[in-house]
Amino acid sequence: MEKVVSGIRPTGNLHLGNYFGAVKSFVEMQDKYESLFFIADWHSLTTRPKPEDIQNSARIILAEYLACGIDPEKAPIYIQSDVKETLELYLFLNMNMYLGELERVTTFKEKARKQPNNVNAGLLTYPTLMAADILQHRAEKVPVGKDQEQNMEMARRCARRFNNIYGVEFFPEPQSFYFNATALKVPGLDGSGKMGKSEGNCIYLHDDDKTITKKVMKAVTDNGPQAMNSPKPEVIENLFTFLKICSTQDTYDFFNEKWNDCTLRYGDLKKQIAADICKTVAPIREKILEYSADKELLDRIARQGAEVARESATATLREVRRIIGFRP
Ligand code: TRP
Repeated sequence: MEKVVSGIRPTGNLHLGNYFGAVKSFVEMQDKYESLFFIADWHSLTTRPKPEDIQNSARIILAEYLACGIDPEKAPIYIQSDVKETLELYLFLNMNMYLGELERVTTFKEKARKQPNNVNAGLLTYPTLMAADILQHRAEKVPVGKDQEQNMEMARRCARRFNNIYGVEFFPEPQSFYFNATALKVPGLDGSGKMGKSEGNCIYLHDDDKTITKKVMKAVTDNGPQAMNSPKPEVIENLFTFLKICSTQDTYDFFNEKWNDCTLRYGDLKKQIAADICKTVAPIREKILEYSADKELLDRIARQGAEVARESATATLREVRRIIGFRP
């Protein structure tokens, strides 16, 4: 079975966009690949989170992933900071990376612009740490969003360069893996673009029915259909996307017909969308509550995940040390 590894930054709660765009695909992957998922808490240090928040943020994300259906028996989940082997590989890989190429990474440039007073070396070597995350397991496939393409290119470069310098075929070049078939772009509720935490247009998986309904009822619309069978403007298309994602085909067809014959009332449409989103989110929310309340279970799952990860990383590092010339 091919090896799949992916990291999740513990930056806030999961929303519907994360769920349909990524997490659901993770859940499908766990049956098809030897999957390993981790919570990238070291990566979050580039923005200096508060000490009292670090462990809690990791736990929240862990609970949410489990609630979405990741089964740690099939796909172990670990917390990055539990597996120190990564750091050794990070050091080795950094020795082969050049300042110029790290500076050229777009995400670095962006973050440097966003936090001009804290352009730290961790930010610069973010791609090396990410490469270490992946290469320590000699993973072949990495499910990531399109925004990670440059980081993935750097990971491949790390692998290739190590192999070249030492004349070995040790690291496979990890391939990005877009969960194309199943992933859906979930729009925001503000009319355009996609659902994103920083846009403030999200429905969170922990939102209760009342909150969800309120958010949906406030979604942006227009003056209503003007002519029979006219194409839908983006804001309305977006609402229909929610029907596509959370409702039945019959419901979609029903409202689509109403759009086409100009009898659609947005209030009715929104009520239906709200009800169907609630139906999708409620079971996940209940599980989030259950898992978050069980710290012992969460810690046990993280511990077991770390054992699996450590075993895989230890085997890799032993070879890496030997290849570089150290005592294995
Ligand atoms: N950089 C990724 C993101 O921002 C998170 C991440 C860290 C990651 N290490 C990884 C993803 C390793 C895949 C593999 O989303």
